[in-house]
Amino acid sequence: MHSPIGIFDSGIGGTSIWKEIAALLPNENTIYLADSLNAPYGEKSPEKIIEFSIKNTELLLNKGCKLIVVACNTATTNAIEFLRSTYDVPFIGIEPAIKPAALKTQTNNIGILATKGTLSSALFFKTSELFATNIKVVEQVGKGLVQLIENGKLHSDEMNELLKKYLSPMLVNNIDYLVLGCTHYPYLIPQIQNIIGNKVQIIDSGLAVAKQTKAVLERYQIKNNSVKKGVHHFFINTDVDVLETILSEVKSEIIIQRFEF
Ligand code: DGL
Repeated sequence: MHSPIGIFDSGIGGTSIWKEIAALLPNENTIYLADSLNAPYGEKSPEKIIEFSIKNTELLLNKGCKLIVVACNTATTNAIEFLRSTYDVPFIGIEPAIKPAALKTQTNNIGILATKGTLSSALFFKTSELFATNIKVVEQVGKGLVQLIENGKLHSDEMNELLKKYLSPMLVNNIDYLVLGCTHYPYLIPQIQNIIGNKVQIIDSGLAVAKQTKAVLERYQIKNNSVKKGVHHFFINTDVDVLETILSEVKSEIIIQRFEF
């Protein structure tokens, strides 16, 4: 099936998921929506997050998408149940990888960096209850990180200061695994690793989401069996500059366009 896979995020962070999907499924066409105008979702109410998720989903469905990847922890944890019960296409979401971290920890202390919207969601609460019963989870809201990334300030002093502030309590609590619960944060891995050193392992779920996408395409028999490489359209409702920079090393055929939505 040649129809594209639709992917959306509150901004450019979900491209960390898109990269994994494009690498694992090179023949699939994709459409990516970066709702940067409304970022950060993490500071909005659940109702607002659901409203944005509906808008993004309907746009992708109007563009003929066969499956939708909610490449945003905040939108997944607040809106995916609603989306699944409302629309007919399969949805893949991303949630903080509490389970693998809880299974692997030796110190019984894990850290999680995510948005306020994710950490306060019912779905996150349920997952923590289920998998992190006998361990300490040091939760930290990454307030300000998404905005800095969206503004192209990935390698700024401001970013470093915020990261130090957020990660220090985790180090004090002797964590050995750090879960990245926001799709923007994989772009911060070098900076984070500099602060936490190599005794703490970072867990992000990008590859797991790509594998799940592949499995669902196979289950529904909607994979693109063409031998041609996929074409990738990116739509963003603010300036294209930062998105272009973040995708500058991508070799696949990509088209980036500003689009009001
Ligand atoms: N990439 C989104 C996530 O995974 C960022 C949320 C936001 O815009 O605050 O949660």
